[in-house]
Amino acid sequence: MTISSTDFDFVRNYVKSKSAITLEAGKEYLVETRLSSIIVSEGLKDISDLVIKMKERADSPLHARVLDAMTTNETFFFRDITPFEVLKKEVIPDLLSRRSPNGPLNIWCAASSSGQEPYTISMVIADNFPSLKTPGCLTFIASDISQQMLAKAKSGLYTQLEVNRGLPAALLVKHFTKVGLDWQIKDEIKRMVDYRMINLSTTFPSLPQMDIIFIRNVLIYFEVEVKKKILEQIRKVMKPDAYLFLGGSETTFNLDDNFERCDLNKTVAYRLKKPK
Ligand SMILES: C[S@@+](CC[C@H](N)C(=O)[O-])C[C@H]1O[C@@H](n2cnc3c(N)ncnc32)[C@H](O)[C@@H]1O
Repeated sequence: MTISSTDFDFVRNYVKSKSAITLEAGKEYLVETRLSSIIVSEGLKDISDLVIKMKERADSPLHARVLDAMTTNETFFFRDITPFEVLKKEVIPDLLSRRSPNGPLNIWCAASSSGQEPYTISMVIADNFPSLKTPGCLTFIASDISQQMLAKAKSGLYTQLEVNRGLPAALLVKHFTKVGLDWQIKDEIKRMVDYRMINLSTTFPSLPQMDIIFIRNVLIYFEVEVKKKILEQIRKVMKPDAYLFLGGSETTFNLDDNFERCDLNKTVAYRLKKPK
């Protein structure tokens, strides 16, 4: 299946207008691959048929499916490992020492995809800071733009292949139960996370002031101006001593001068510069 340049432009303009994700020239193959299953399931002939259908209405479930399909949802448990080690050994202990052993702490995991990242954080908290599980001690929001990813994250059901990626066997046994061929995360861990649809490219909804923000491996999809706007909004929901974690190839450098880099044992977090 090949895509014409006008259909490619239509799809990429639509995706950009809804999510700020940029699909540069040369990414035609990605659109072709990602949309092929929608074309089959909708009984359409090809991408041009799909584009005609999308043009019939401004917004429809088909539009949402196309947007979902064009998001890259790659994620796994304990991705990059070090952010979660410093969360356990340095970041949460530091924040609790400034507050009280019971917090309260507010955490936001943005662009959380299918839930492996927020559940990694929940497991770290449940295993090392159990007092934060007391009602009122932790507000933990996880968000994504993809309805499909949010539904999967909320279900907490993972395949053998997914739990094989990054999750230590001891944590699999402790926090999951086997359901048929899959693994279901236990309610105790699931309940800790409140999932929401938040589109980072628009004005953020009202959020509590955060102590810790994870927004990893998503800024890479945006143009500089969009990254700047997102970082500016993130700054506004950070407490003065909050920690921000970005993906390994992402930085605030050259985008927002109000952050300073904080080197923590083999990983980097960003913090707000103190007002002069
Ligand atoms: C590569 S995944 C990263 C998942 C996880 N943070 C990690 O590092 O493993 C990127 C996620 O960003 C989400 N995303 C893309 N554009 C977005 C937007 N405008 N607003 C919110 N989420 C977005 C995608 O749906 C996808 O789930």
